[in-house]
Amino acid sequence: MIDLHCHILPGIDDGPTTLEQSLELAVLYQKAGFIKIVATPHWVPGTSWTPSIEQIHHRIALLRDSFKSRQIDIQIYSGMEIALDINLGDLLLSKDLVTLAGSSYVLIESPFQRLPLGWDQMFFAIMAKGYRIVLAHPERCLQLFSTPELYDDIIEAGVYFQVNYDSFLGHYGKKESETAFYLLKKGYIHFLATDSHDPLLRHPGNALEAVKVLKKTIDSKTIEILTRINPENVINDFPLETMASADFLPKDRKRWRWF
Ligand SMILES: [Fe+2]
Repeated sequence: MIDLHCHILPGIDDGPTTLEQSLELAVLYQKAGFIKIVATPHWVPGTSWTPSIEQIHHRIALLRDSFKSRQIDIQIYSGMEIALDINLGDLLLSKDLVTLAGSSYVLIESPFQRLPLGWDQMFFAIMAKGYRIVLAHPERCLQLFSTPELYDDIIEAGVYFQVNYDSFLGHYGKKESETAFYLLKKGYIHFLATDSHDPLLRHPGNALEAVKVLKKTIDSKTIEILTRINPENVINDFPLETMASADFLPKDRKRWRWF
């Protein structure tokens, strides 16, 4: 598996505070079978979470050295989870922000409540500069899961969706879980990612559990697309594969009909 979204860099956001904690997380990645990860610390304008490219690259180099000395066989790449802002197109062009593994793909954070006003123009401005948008955990945004037609609009605008493994396990709540399955059913998911933050709660071990759940509803080829093929395509800056819509309604979840 390959993870496009995680907070493994030490002392930079709400992820690990020490190198040792980062390495604990890395060991869990290895145990879960991940071979490549993209570190995506938060970047939120107007807060202390505005790491520079140098700060990120310094920590990536530190982790690469530590992985080597601890025999942790994982390749790590740089990235950012970027909060939506009107200036992102320009900031990307001036190299103030980090794309996913140096590709043209950018990870944009879904707010938990509402998208900012003018979000469609913001997406357009980023794509007009030649970048491709991966929207992180859209299943966790109140405005979106309360108005699911918006998912159609965003997908039609050419945005790619990254859903968290934990959402399929109900770790964020019922609506988030239902929405993750709804997006799966629509064929709207391009990647699954851990969004891991620590070795105890939000960690890569949950990915294996989620895959077990998903195997009951989608075929192994689709799982491969979401967990390995498309993340690899991002690292190589290739176009993505699209999953087929999963035409199912799980037997024990009739209440999902409200969509
Ligand atoms: Fe995140």
